[in-house]
Amino acid sequence: MTDVKETLALAQRLAREAGAVQRERYETVLTIGTKSAAVDLVTEVDKRCEALIVESLHRERPDDAILAEEGSNREAAGAPWRWVIDPLDGTVNYAHGYPRFCVSIGAERHGVRTVGVIYDPLLEELYHAVRGSGAFRNEQPIRVSREAELGRALFATGFAYDVHRSHEDNLDHFGRFVKNARAVRRDGSAALDLCYVACGRLDGYWELKLHPWDLSAGSLLVEEAGGRVTDLSGAPLPVDGRSVVSSNGSLHEAMLALLRRR
Ligand code: IPD
Ligand code: CA
Ligand code: CA
Repeated sequence: MTDVKETLALAQRLAREAGAVQRERYETVLTIGTKSAAVDLVTEVDKRCEALIVESLHRERPDDAILAEEGSNREAAGAPWRWVIDPLDGTVNYAHGYPRFCVSIGAERHGVRTVGVIYDPLLEELYHAVRGSGAFRNEQPIRVSREAELGRALFATGFAYDVHRSHEDNLDHFGRFVKNARAVRRDGSAALDLCYVACGRLDGYWELKLHPWDLSAGSLLVEEAGGRVTDLSGAPLPVDGRSVVSSNGSLHEAMLALLRRR
């Protein structure tokens, strides 16, 4: 357990440090590049936050594997721990000065999501979960909502960076949820969407074509807060899963049914 406690403490410290950089550079002039598409942005702050986190891990956890969005990966065959890092989730928001973004750090032990930390530096909300020990925001326990009726539920989703060119664009699902739920949000940070399901601000969230760094910490938070996380077929979400359905549990089957409907 010391192992897990130390991992949590380190993830919390690194999330706070990276978050402080994001807060300091928020609404300043940024160097911005593009990646897979013109709408897929990367700012100097994404890179600086990843360097800060990964350099500390190299010093403090030299044997662990690392998967990080901006590419500072480290293979370590047989290592018990793998860190899964989104140094800045919500880059488009950040680039526009829209105040919804965070740092997301997950840690898997022997291939099982074990520690998850997400930090919103503007609201100063630090979320954390350890498998089997519950989910917390600023050290206070959090729970998913109790809502069981689709028509009273608030959902969120997002759209992948290939939305301009792909037919698998989530717009069909989005339309169905808009017509059946109380409301649907698209707020641009998958990790915070998952935190909001975990603490009951949202009743459910789904998205296609994500990456492990978007999901690692947040999916553990939802499960530890009493919610359910699956792929679109309703099967448990694998560590390399790309599409997610997360909910308070009560609404899960209704969400899956809407996502399946043609
Ligand atoms: C993105 C955000 C967004 C989601 C995209 C993600 P990034 O991550 O989480 O909400 O809709 O699919 O790629 O690029 O800001 O780290
Ligand atoms: Ca992301
Ligand atoms: Ca990112």
